[in-house]
Amino acid sequence: MFEQMIGQSPSFEALVRAARLVAAIDVTVLIVGETGTGKELLAQALLQHSQRAGKPFVTLNCAALPVSVAESELFGHRKGAFTGAVADFSGRLEAADGGTLFLDEINSLPVPVQAKLLRFLDSGEIQPVGARSTQRVDVRIIAATNANLAEKIDAGEFRRDLYYRLSVVPLEIPPLRDRGSDIELLLRHFIRHFSQTHDILPAEFSREAIRRLCSYSWPGNVRELRNFCERVAILQEGRVVEEKDIPEVVGSFAPKALSSPQFALPETGLELEQMEMDFIRQALQRTGGNRTRAAKLLGITRDQLNYRMQKYGIA
Ligand SMILES: Nc1ncnc2c1ncn2[C@@H]1O[C@H](COP(=O)(O)OP(=O)(O)OP(=O)(O)O)[C@@H](O)[C@H]1O
Ligand SMILES: [Mg+2]
Repeated sequence: MFEQMIGQSPSFEALVRAARLVAAIDVTVLIVGETGTGKELLAQALLQHSQRAGKPFVTLNCAALPVSVAESELFGHRKGAFTGAVADFSGRLEAADGGTLFLDEINSLPVPVQAKLLRFLDSGEIQPVGARSTQRVDVRIIAATNANLAEKIDAGEFRRDLYYRLSVVPLEIPPLRDRGSDIELLLRHFIRHFSQTHDILPAEFSREAIRRLCSYSWPGNVRELRNFCERVAILQEGRVVEEKDIPEVVGSFAPKALSSPQFALPETGLELEQMEMDFIRQALQRTGGNRTRAAKLLGITRDQLNYRMQKYGIA
């Protein structure tokens, strides 16, 4: 699985080295990284290389969960614990017993639930909502955050004690823009990947295009680069992509030739010169014969308009 994590920059290699060491040891791991840097991919790799590979792997995305929902999802509840609790419900920790629980976007976990999670981490015991007694579960926690937890702690939105407990081994994935040589490597990797997947000729990047792409900031990190490559692989099949083909905001990349047309060509075709003549006449009519303003309406210079009027014999 670590093999699927492409990168050769020093900071990325250091991360993978640390991750390989940590994977096999049964400790809590906190993965920190901006959106699209590969936190989920890393969690999967950690799992595959752990003693818990093949055991349950359960995920909970903590984003936007109200307190009561987050609590039930994590710890479960007993029938009758609250209105609507019509049956016993086992939470993700119980479901992950013997295996691993991946807590994605843990930065969003409501503070009261953070306290309960800390209790589990310290004791290995859970108490479902409405249950009289606790029960033991054996679960390794891998948590991920895309927010700066230090800032969340200062704002009173994340418990410092939980942070310390989770970050026994923090694994920080650097943003793509700080991983210089990885950008080029990933561009080639994904172009090859998508050309093969879609069975098309691979596009290539010119030297200047590569340089341009390496200086782009990639705010969406590897996810953005991956999507970009799929678009390029399809739209530029077999071609050499030049620097001029790459717009300011790489995310909006779409070659002109393939963007949707402003004017639809009628099924029966048309007379291009006739159309030009008609538009020139209409423009002149609308401006009361004022050539400067007519030219402006047509998006050409006055000279260009004069030339065309002469050509078509428009008085
Ligand atoms: N080093 C890498 N090599 C190859 N593919 C990668 C790498 N890093 C990320 N990816 C790919 O980029 C995409 C985004 O990765 P992932 O979903 O793991 O990011 P994330 O950090 O969990 O993002 P988010 O915070 O938005 O949930 C996935 O398709 C993943 O396979
Ligand atoms: Mg993710």
